[in-house]
Amino acid sequence: MSRKRVAILISGRGSNMAALIEAAKAADYPAEIALVLSNVPDAGGLARASAEGIATVTVDHRAFGRDREAFDRAMHAELVRHAIDIVCLAGFMRILTPWLVAQWPHRMINVHPALLPAYKGLDTHARALADGATVHGATVHFVVPELDSGPIILQEEVPVLADDTAETLASRVLAAEHRIYPAALRMIATDYKLA
Ligand code: GAR
Repeated sequence: MSRKRVAILISGRGSNMAALIEAAKAADYPAEIALVLSNVPDAGGLARASAEGIATVTVDHRAFGRDREAFDRAMHAELVRHAIDIVCLAGFMRILTPWLVAQWPHRMINVHPALLPAYKGLDTHARALADGATVHGATVHFVVPELDSGPIILQEEVPVLADDTAETLASRVLAAEHRIYPAALRMIATDYKLA
């Protein structure tokens, strides 16, 4: 079996990254984590990836000022240099340019802490609670230029409990993210495509 080479893009602690790394240890998993790329030099996930023996690289967006495409071209160069097949955004908190997204058709996926198309953007858990939502959840989807949009690959519902805070809800949603992200990557890496 030839495994797809995956890059994970992070900006922070990298718990979804860690879930993907763990899943990829299975002998029958169709992808290997070949690179972890961060836009934040001290992102917590970088140390975890290094400890696992995975190549890491930082492309600091601040070096590019307002030139988002120059930042994206620098990231893309790293992805090409590491012969990456599939890109997984995992808590990567930069908006990508249409140019970069166009380089990875059906090969760039993202995890989002809500049942898209509900609650795109930030503070999803607090917004769901404020609305009195009874069901919340997590989504893995293909990346398109519009933020938190694109064809959905997998979702998992998480019931909202009467005494939930944004933090308690976030932690149950995060557990769901950790289940569906490795499952979605398995699908993509075995050449599943949405029509
Ligand atoms: C996750 O909940 C992820 O869904 C969210 O950031 C968190 C990162 O946590 N991403 C977004 O909100 C992107 N729209 P992690 O670094 O522990 O994986």
